[in-house]
Amino acid sequence: MSKPRIGIVISTTRQGRFGDKPAAWIRDIAAARGDLDVEIVDLRDYPMPLFDEPVSPAYVPPTNEAAQRWGRKVAELDGFIFVTAEYNRGPPAALKNALDYAYKEFNRKPAAFVGYGGVGGARAVEQLRLIAIELQMAPTRSGVHIGGADFMGMYMQGKTFADLPHLDATAVALLDELSWWAHVLKAAREATVAKAA
Ligand SMILES: Cc1cc2nc3c(=O)[nH]c(=O)nc-3n(C[C@H](O)[C@H](O)[C@H](O)COP(=O)(O)O)c2cc1C
Repeated sequence: MSKPRIGIVISTTRQGRFGDKPAAWIRDIAAARGDLDVEIVDLRDYPMPLFDEPVSPAYVPPTNEAAQRWGRKVAELDGFIFVTAEYNRGPPAALKNALDYAYKEFNRKPAAFVGYGGVGGARAVEQLRLIAIELQMAPTRSGVHIGGADFMGMYMQGKTFADLPHLDATAVALLDELSWWAHVLKAAREATVAKAA
């Protein structure tokens, strides 16, 4: 079995976003392990309109071109790390919209979360875990939460992840769990396809 491919999805699209920093940080730690193929997936590259399809993508593929490309990208991946901000105590609308634009492509794949914000994006992450269940994903228990003084230090005071080494242990816990689920579910999906053939 080839290594699971993990997409690191940046949840925000606004100019000057913070999201690039935690995405690059978790990407570098994940890539150094050697058990996962990781790539950053930027929602800016998939400029989908606010959901405007006649039928849920659970039943009929979307008609929008960017959404079709997004669906193909999600289908290629074996697991996800959603790097999420918290907007008004929930996930950013760009991410929720992207989640609504695919369905089967997410099924039976693991989802892990890196949150940032005043309380480490925890409220957005908890909502995303519920959404992931409806998408038939396996959300991990362990997450990374960059909050409080850590977040403000990076956001306002020029600190970097090198100044916050205690966050690395939370990244390892997340990646250990994600890797286990990604390998197990990839093998199971492949076995299901082989059996049906
Ligand atoms: C519309 C909006 C709502 C926000 N609501 C919250 C919030 O509920 N909780 C929080 O911790 N931060 C909140 N923030 C502050 C964000 O944590 C901060 O701006 C962060 O940098 C946003 O991520 P981004 O830079 O990747 O867009 C909000 C920011 C915006 C723009």
